[in-house]
Amino acid sequence: MANHKTKLAVFCSGTGTNFQAIYHAINERDLPAEFSLCLSNRSECGAMTFAAAKGIPTVHLSEKQYDTHEEFASAMLKALGEHDVEYILLAGYLRKVPEAVVEAYNLKILNIHPALLPKFGGKGMYGISVHQAVLEAGEKETGATVHYVDTEYDKGPILLQRAVPVKKGDTPESLAARVLECEHQVYPDALEKLLTGTNR
Ligand code: GRF
Repeated sequence: MANHKTKLAVFCSGTGTNFQAIYHAINERDLPAEFSLCLSNRSECGAMTFAAAKGIPTVHLSEKQYDTHEEFASAMLKALGEHDVEYILLAGYLRKVPEAVVEAYNLKILNIHPALLPKFGGKGMYGISVHQAVLEAGEKETGATVHYVDTEYDKGPILLQRAVPVKKGDTPESLAARVLECEHQVYPDALEKLLTGTNR
């Protein structure tokens, strides 16, 4: 299995800048992995457009397309199976992954959260609200965390975490931009750690 490339699925709902950063890092660092699927709850978004341009299979899967949650979860597992997915990377996926999928991919799903978990995590803590809460709490630093996903929001074991300073005069938006830049480094680094054991 010397040349085995680990097959990755990315789950996105938006622009997908983290997905793009990981995609480029895989090429630049020659990591033993490749994206075999981009799954989104939105038929059109930056991530889906990027995937299509790179020849990565895309699947639009939304709970609304199914009568029951079980059928939705089965369809997701089927798509993952059809693309031989070994690891799932959540990158701005604004939906909860069905429990059946989390169980089938135990310790095989990663997420990035734009704060230093366990601080500023949990239900409702996403997007700009995270940075707003960090500023309101008067934190001197925040950061980005890559963690394994389990059935509770933002609670799975941490794989890699990196700090970012909070600066005087920061707004939630300026902080979000600084953290996002850090995310684009830390997510590829976490994947590299997972695949090769290398710490950057
Ligand atoms: C990132 O801030 C990530 O931490 C959060 O959603 C955002 C996704 O941005 N989960 P993008 O789609 O990767 O640009």
